[in-house]
Amino acid sequence: MLKVQSLGGYIHEYQKSVTQPEIFWDRIAESFHWKKKWDKTVEWEFKTPDVKWFVNGKLNITENIFERNLFTLGDAPAIIWEANEPGEASVTLTYNALFEKVCTFANALKAKGIKKGDRVIIYMPMVPEAAVAMLACARIGAIHSVVFAGFSSSALADRCNDCQAKMVITSDGNFRGTKSIPVKAVVDEALETTTSIESVIVLERTKIDVSLKEGRDFWWHDVVANASSECPAEIMDSEDPLFILYTSGSTGKPKGVVHTCGGYMVYTQYSFLNVFQYAPGDVYWCTADVGWITGHSYIVYGPLLSGATTLMFEGVPTYPNAGRFWEVIDKHKVNQFYTAPTAIRALQAFGLEPLEPYKLDSLKVIGSVGEPINEEAWHWYHTHIGKGNCPLVDTWWQTETGGIMVSALAGITPNKPAHASLPLPGIQPIIVDPDGNEITGNNVQGNLCIKYPWPSMIRTTYGDHDRCKQEYFSTYEGLYFTGDGAKRDHDGYIRILGRVDDVINVSGHRMGTAEVENAINEHPLVVESAVVGYPHDIKGQGIYAYVICDMENRSEASLVNEIRQTVTQIIGPIAKPDAIQIVSGLPKTRSGKIMRRILRKVAEKDISNLGDTSTLLNPDVVDEIIKGAGL
Ligand code: PRX
Repeated sequence: MLKVQSLGGYIHEYQKSVTQPEIFWDRIAESFHWKKKWDKTVEWEFKTPDVKWFVNGKLNITENIFERNLFTLGDAPAIIWEANEPGEASVTLTYNALFEKVCTFANALKAKGIKKGDRVIIYMPMVPEAAVAMLACARIGAIHSVVFAGFSSSALADRCNDCQAKMVITSDGNFRGTKSIPVKAVVDEALETTTSIESVIVLERTKIDVSLKEGRDFWWHDVVANASSECPAEIMDSEDPLFILYTSGSTGKPKGVVHTCGGYMVYTQYSFLNVFQYAPGDVYWCTADVGWITGHSYIVYGPLLSGATTLMFEGVPTYPNAGRFWEVIDKHKVNQFYTAPTAIRALQAFGLEPLEPYKLDSLKVIGSVGEPINEEAWHWYHTHIGKGNCPLVDTWWQTETGGIMVSALAGITPNKPAHASLPLPGIQPIIVDPDGNEITGNNVQGNLCIKYPWPSMIRTTYGDHDRCKQEYFSTYEGLYFTGDGAKRDHDGYIRILGRVDDVINVSGHRMGTAEVENAINEHPLVVESAVVGYPHDIKGQGIYAYVICDMENRSEASLVNEIRQTVTQIIGPIAKPDAIQIVSGLPKTRSGKIMRRILRKVAEKDISNLGDTSTLLNPDVVDEIIKGAGL
């Protein structure tokens, strides 16, 4: 009923979703289980902004995963878990088993004083308990905020403090390829500077020694030991927050994107079913981490709301060798496979040999997310993984959009290399010129905005609604601005051109240049820094940092090393600059603004068209920077 079945069906649904959006969304929302039906489908204005979906509706998202599905799906696999070590047995949790774990853990949370509206940080490896923790929070109305387990203790502490979380759920350690990461030790360090955390629940995973602070820290297995496996679902308003997820923007501080219960539920299931064309009995695998929005919407909520079997993988694509993804696909007979261009490019670099032992004949759909997929990687993925006959869905969306916005629907609408292609029904993207005027027609290019609300859109940035307004709704009046540039080609398909703001996308991870600069500037000898992105063969974009330092007789090499360490400590290894160039000055306009355009060109090793530099405050510095870059 929710699934579009043909190209004609898509065109019809799309038309209806634009001309009669309320009727369109009502029909989709009616397939869910509501404790009380909504009074109004949508109320919105993009000025403040103020957006409400399914107004006054009451529901619990976990009832829609469990109670709604159990009658038919109780014994069906909900989560298949594949461990980091190929030799470790995989685990399958049926819907019944997952439900029992969620309710038991929800009771354990309650026993530790967690109530509706409290914030709970989840800082965990890719184990089923991460999903259990998220769903247990949702069951009792606590607001989860998952922090990617690769973030440093200081990044974790900032997030705990920003949302004044009461609890951290974590593990002793984390297996990643050949590494074993001491996760709890990072939490301990973070908790030295947090102001609101009252308790910590620790899952035993790697069995390393950890210290548990009396009265504050508890083992997961102890807190669930005597907890009941029955837990009634808390009744939530459609617009009650479901979770907060921190993401980078153009300012130095990550912001807490808030998603709410009703709209997020409706849109994640709708988009999951339609983009991947999931059919009952299929095994679906998304390789993202639950610490990112892709993990939230398309490992946990979208698939489980659909009664799907979702595979969770603890490890990395290259351990024990570059055939691991392909081995897992054959082992579990994966039907839909969803990954990031950076993983594709990294695996492509190993050639075809790692693929040889595997058939990959279970695959029906392959997908891409997180950054633009270049044509070469698209063709390699389509030919060698999809064997030329799986639709490749290039899905464009963002933490703020909650769900996939522009993408082919597998096998239904055409896919075109490197093009996200067409909007999903209900989504109204437009391309605008610098003044915010819509550019219609084909073969046009500009900035990508959305002109009508959709159910899973960002509602606010936690604790600072004005920031939400400034970041997304102020650039162009009456529009949500995505921060991306886009082109509509001669066939009317959308191609995403990448960020047009000070955000870079490194291996599909979003990073604010200001955030990295702030971290670099924490080094005591750094005077000033400027960070830009540059094209990187595997990562999509790399991080290039220009740094002015007080050298104090230190060698450049040791300083560069220390600066890298500083960034790892403040944000995490994902933000470590790929290139650091020590400079004596930065090119600045007379008003003191750094000319990033010049720095970008040098980082790209293209100095052919630097433009007029004579108006700079310090034109000589440009030559010095070019020389320093070895150009
Ligand atoms: O620039 C776009 C890029 O990733 C940004 C969103 O990042 P994040 O919030 O971390 O979410 C990533 C996963 C949804 C976007 O503004 N992006 C995401 N998907 C694509 C993409 N760029 C091009 N093509 C895509 N398919």
